[in-house]
Amino acid sequence: MIRPILIHPDPRLKKQCDPIREITADLRRLASDMLETMYDAPGIGLAAPQVGITKRLIVMDCMKSPDAPRPLILFNPQVTWTSDTLSTYEEGCLSIPEQYADVQRPDRATVTWTDETGTAQEETFEGLWATCVQHEIDHLNGKLFIDYLGLMRRQMITRKMEKLKREIAREGR
Ligand code: NI
Repeated sequence: MIRPILIHPDPRLKKQCDPIREITADLRRLASDMLETMYDAPGIGLAAPQVGITKRLIVMDCMKSPDAPRPLILFNPQVTWTSDTLSTYEEGCLSIPEQYADVQRPDRATVTWTDETGTAQEETFEGLWATCVQHEIDHLNGKLFIDYLGLMRRQMITRKMEKLKREIAREGR
């Protein structure tokens, strides 16, 4: 089931999300809905707060290829190591549609998480995957990519999003 994606600004996007104690059938369904919602958007990552659930769950697939998908479901993801070397990507966010900006982050990041079968996982992500996983984990801490930008740029984007939300509300979408 495709779920509606919250648009910034929204208090649920600013929350510190709660750890998941047990991977229930409901949470597995949520993860599967999030992947469907992400592919439909289309996007390469989605965090639970973006669909209004303030729990520590993200999904991603940076393959950008329907022929070779790699859907990942990460419960309670944690960054345990980042490289000193940085890389810059032009980031966007499904909660901030059509706004993009360069953000600098470590170009490799080791992340631990629990997968949908309850198994502990660890991987060192590189390149776009590293950027994406750090961007999504930021969401679980109430942080958006625009928080890395200067105040003026951030306010300008926020005003555009407020206008967009008013338009959506008026059209009853
Ligand atoms: Ni995002």
